[in-house]
Amino acid sequence: MKNIVILISGTGSNMAAIVRAAGRQQWAERLGARVAAVISNRPGVQGLRTAQQAGIATAVIDHKSFASRAEFDAALMHAIDAHQPALLALAGFMRVLTPGFVAHYTGRIVNIHPSLLPAFPGLHTHQRAIDAGCKLAGATVHRVTAELDHGPILAQAAVPILPGDTAGALAARVLTQEHLIYPRALAQLLQTL
Ligand code: GRF
Repeated sequence: MKNIVILISGTGSNMAAIVRAAGRQQWAERLGARVAAVISNRPGVQGLRTAQQAGIATAVIDHKSFASRAEFDAALMHAIDAHQPALLALAGFMRVLTPGFVAHYTGRIVNIHPSLLPAFPGLHTHQRAIDAGCKLAGATVHRVTAELDHGPILAQAAVPILPGDTAGALAARVLTQEHLIYPRALAQLLQTL
């Protein structure tokens, strides 16, 4: 079985979309894959409860408990590697990863970012797209490389930016697309692993 480990920091709606797709599309039977674990760097977040309700193993590696980024990364890698993942999916995971961490998972680590990369890497993507006068916004699933929000693009979806849009309204519109493209991109990738 190809194990998928998902890293989250909060609500975990992308994680939940992946879990739902894996069940609905019978990834275990069709792709020989399953979501083996959900790991959060923040305790008590909604995504952990959602995963537990779905019967998925969870863990918390709280970055605040570690004196250095290197120690946090080591603990996180230890927790991830306990599940021997074929694929590591970042889903709203809000920590910058070190080059050593990324190198450890080369070829099997992906992320979803709420912009049409290479436009707007980093934070506050929706407000920045509105401020720039963009007519389209969207989301990108990409392979993770050492450079933040870069790496080969696997899937994208675009949505219109409407007159009077707020960052919140745009984020919600983009998020519905994220929930479609992330599971689809992972399923495609799993077929190649
Ligand atoms: C998503 O917009 C994701 O692209 C971004 O953070 C948000 C996380 O949402 N990196 P959720 O935790 O998956 O609900």
